[in-house]
Amino acid sequence: MKFKMSSIITRPDFQGEFTNSILAAAASPDIISFAGGLPNPVSFPIEEMEAATKKVLEDKGAIALQYSSTPGYPALREWVAKRYETMGVYGVKADDIIITNGSQQALAMVGATMIDPGDEIIVEDPTYLVALQSFHMYSPKVLTVTMNSDGIDCDELEKTVKEHPDAKLIYLIPNFQNPTGLTYSKEVHDRAAQILKGTNLLVLEDNPYSELRFEGKSNESFGAALGDQCCMLGTFSKIVAPGMRIGWICCRNDELREKLLNYKATADLHTNIFCQMVLAQYLADNDIDKHIDKTKELYHQKAQYMMDCMRKYLPEGVEFTPTQGGMFLWATLPEGITAVELYRAALAKGVAICPGDPFYEYKRNVRTFRVNYSNSSNEVIEKGMRILGEVCRELMAKK
Ligand SMILES: Cc1ncc(COP(=O)(O)O)c(C=O)c1O
Repeated sequence: MKFKMSSIITRPDFQGEFTNSILAAAASPDIISFAGGLPNPVSFPIEEMEAATKKVLEDKGAIALQYSSTPGYPALREWVAKRYETMGVYGVKADDIIITNGSQQALAMVGATMIDPGDEIIVEDPTYLVALQSFHMYSPKVLTVTMNSDGIDCDELEKTVKEHPDAKLIYLIPNFQNPTGLTYSKEVHDRAAQILKGTNLLVLEDNPYSELRFEGKSNESFGAALGDQCCMLGTFSKIVAPGMRIGWICCRNDELREKLLNYKATADLHTNIFCQMVLAQYLADNDIDKHIDKTKELYHQKAQYMMDCMRKYLPEGVEFTPTQGGMFLWATLPEGITAVELYRAALAKGVAICPGDPFYEYKRNVRTFRVNYSNSSNEVIEKGMRILGEVCRELMAKK
């Protein structure tokens, strides 16, 4: 039986196919995988969750196991609203927050409510590939702005915004971007805010990694400078546990929030209320900042170890950008070798990296690749980097 499915689902999807094949390759237990982006399970607060679960079931079981409302559990929305003060955004109300099924669902919700086929949207180049996949569902014309080592290229941004006054939204990941691990400098952040302020663009700030800063100082969220022009996405995936699938969107524009809620209600009625309540209980009974500090310490040590191994084992000509937080490092191969060539050759030797290609809307056969450090032991990092270095040398010798 062959069904006639919608064009949304049957459209060729470079990003999706690429990701599936990389993740499938990397899932093998015999492969050293730097390709994914998994938090380290050592950081999961298992015992604390057990206690929170018991308490929720004992005290509020009838509510936790019942249908609930679309915006989310009030105590959790309160917590998220208050947390924005640590990012320099004051006056956020619980009513501005919609609890979503991971921030991934928030991306899908924004795509559905903002994009008609052919609409222009602006993204960083490269950017988070699953955001590209989400937006592609609605057939936009994607405009790209280069990411430099200090953040988005502001001259290019200014030109793009001027030349495309009807563009609908701009998607930004200003802290420890996925895939590059890069963060906007204060100068870039302030100039970008100035360029975007007062335009017709919805500024969609995705911020899953800013709490994982182990060095330096963070910029304020774009929501501080841009008010209700900026929707801010967040998640508990990287600071508590991704399996709970709890994220949020902070939308202070009443009309858009109404539409987002309509979309979410038809998609899933509401985010799993049991998990929301367990998480809210966990946050009430534990010091989340202490927990995040421990995770940051772990990731700092791992990032440092991976950078040391890259310096030690990768041949001259392979460059990478040091990071101050998040979960990724971004490297560039010398002229003449593509990241896909490295990916294939390294996989044959048991090491998976993530080539840059699917993170770009248009560029192919790029020389950039992403490696993840959060979820490997030091021994695995060392072994994997040694093999990657050998493979790079072999490829360079052939050119
Ligand atoms: C930039 C970015 N946005 C969103 C997500 C989705 O995260 P979640 O749905 O787990 O909140 C990720 C996950 O890796 C990400 O890197």
